[in-house]
Amino acid sequence: MCGIVGYIGKRRASPVLLDGLKKLEYRGYDSAGIAVLDQGILRVVKRQGRVEELGAAHSLDGCIGIGHTRWATHGAPSARNAHPHVFRGIAVVHNGIIENAAALRALCLARGETFLSDTDSEVVAHLIAHAFCGDLLSAVIRAARELTGSFALAVLREGGEEIVCARKKSPLIAAAGEGESFVASDIPAIAASGRRAYILQDGEFARLTAEDVQLYDENGALIAREGVVLEEGELAPDRGTYAHFMRKEIDEIPRAVQNSLFSADYFQKNGFSEVLCQTEYIDIVACGTAYHSGLCAKAAIEELLRIPVRVFLASEYRYTRPIVRGDALTIAVSQSGETADTLAAAQLAKEKGCKVLALTNCARSTLTRMSDLLLVTGAGREVGVAATKSFQAQLAALYSLCAALAYFRKKRVPSPKDLLPLCGQSIRESAAVAGWAPCFAAARNVFFLGRGADRCAALEGSLKFKEITYLPAEGYAAGELKHGALALADETTPVVALAFDERLAEKTMNAVHEVYARGAPVFLVTCFPALCGQKEVSSFVLLPACEPAFSPMLSVIPLQLLAYETAVFLKNDPDKPRNLAKSVTVE
Ligand code: AGP
Repeated sequence: MCGIVGYIGKRRASPVLLDGLKKLEYRGYDSAGIAVLDQGILRVVKRQGRVEELGAAHSLDGCIGIGHTRWATHGAPSARNAHPHVFRGIAVVHNGIIENAAALRALCLARGETFLSDTDSEVVAHLIAHAFCGDLLSAVIRAARELTGSFALAVLREGGEEIVCARKKSPLIAAAGEGESFVASDIPAIAASGRRAYILQDGEFARLTAEDVQLYDENGALIAREGVVLEEGELAPDRGTYAHFMRKEIDEIPRAVQNSLFSADYFQKNGFSEVLCQTEYIDIVACGTAYHSGLCAKAAIEELLRIPVRVFLASEYRYTRPIVRGDALTIAVSQSGETADTLAAAQLAKEKGCKVLALTNCARSTLTRMSDLLLVTGAGREVGVAATKSFQAQLAALYSLCAALAYFRKKRVPSPKDLLPLCGQSIRESAAVAGWAPCFAAARNVFFLGRGADRCAALEGSLKFKEITYLPAEGYAAGELKHGALALADETTPVVALAFDERLAEKTMNAVHEVYARGAPVFLVTCFPALCGQKEVSSFVLLPACEPAFSPMLSVIPLQLLAYETAVFLKNDPDKPRNLAKSVTVE
């Protein structure tokens, strides 16, 4: 998604801004730009493509500036549509979506103003310029009243000596250092040990000068709030000797799992007892990989505890008038805690009277602030756009919740702690998938097949594969294949079959026979040695056995690695897949 950086201080702004934008690259973007006040005059450089394309920005002088990486929503990816947008000496960078942009634009056009881009954001510069009567903060506050939708804004004025910021439903953080101040949409772009950070809340504004950061409410009244001192762990991550963050993050799965397992004692001491004793219904809302974690949790909780669990795509939940029981526990799962659809679904569940449990990897995210109960996974920063270790961390927390539900109901289920030593082993046993990459890179289509919990893992495997290889892939219920999709099976369609449940393994192998008979090469991921020797199996990964209901924590590892190896074989950048963003803060 789009990224914002801003700087005001004694240093030249352009290198600071370019460095900040590089640190936001992992979020995904297709164009970039910066504006610097050079002796009070606005200088702007905008380009389509990578931050490296902004080479001309190096020559900009001046100690005040704002920068942006844009992920196109309204208008094609192009230099013209890149931010900052400038109108009558007001430069604006914007994250989010201005929903009433068309109406506002019409008003501006009627006033005889002209537009240079197709974006919804440009209208913000017009509104601020129009509202300006000598004080930028007041102008931004007035303009913000006109906007519907979501926004994080950083604004400069020609001749000014400040940056003014605003936030509504899109994250923004300001930070104060020694004689300099920063703003960014994400901590890594501004983090340095010891700086004091101010996380803007919805409806808040900030004025940054070289000396200070000050926060204001929507009436322009000063807000007194102590900033938080940034710590080492929040600084920009390091790839070490790894070629890509994604590969490093797969190796970090064991630690992520270890840091995301919660004991019954933890739940007891953190206010979960009543909910866990009484909950009869569970709803889970999430998107993408987090949705698949929800499906895996459903498989485990229903299988082991017989408590009904419904899993909703958050984007569907908010618009399909779900029939919600007010006594259901709603779990909102989101690595970033900033996904717009998940936030909206959690809000809706709250309005329906449900208790909302936030499961997130980001302790200071918006989701944590709106939840009744909170579980923070300990995956650490995940830089790769493709979620890897955060998936296993979510499962560790959700399986811990399953064990806690059992504990509070005096039932027994296998301990998710038993999975911990098996994670590292599974990474090692999955090395064979590197050899599968040439076959998968040449595929016309790929199937990931399984039943029960294996099907949930298959869905995540296919998402990962599509996301970074740009090849079509489908996660499919093994038994459903012959009801239509088998028509696609031929020698160009490699199939990955998953079998971790003894009761279902032979049934899944029936689907293997069916695709093999149509020429499809079959790759098996299983914990059953006997299946690996079958003639249909071209190659296999044999993983350690575990409780079948918890097996996706292990079985997804080779699928993540397969996606990674195939993407690298195809010379794609697995850390920054095209068109995608790390946290999707617009709907
Ligand atoms: C997964 O690899 C994705 N990048 C994506 O599906 C992601 O899981 C989804 O956008 C949800 O993000 P969240 O967990 O931050 O809410």
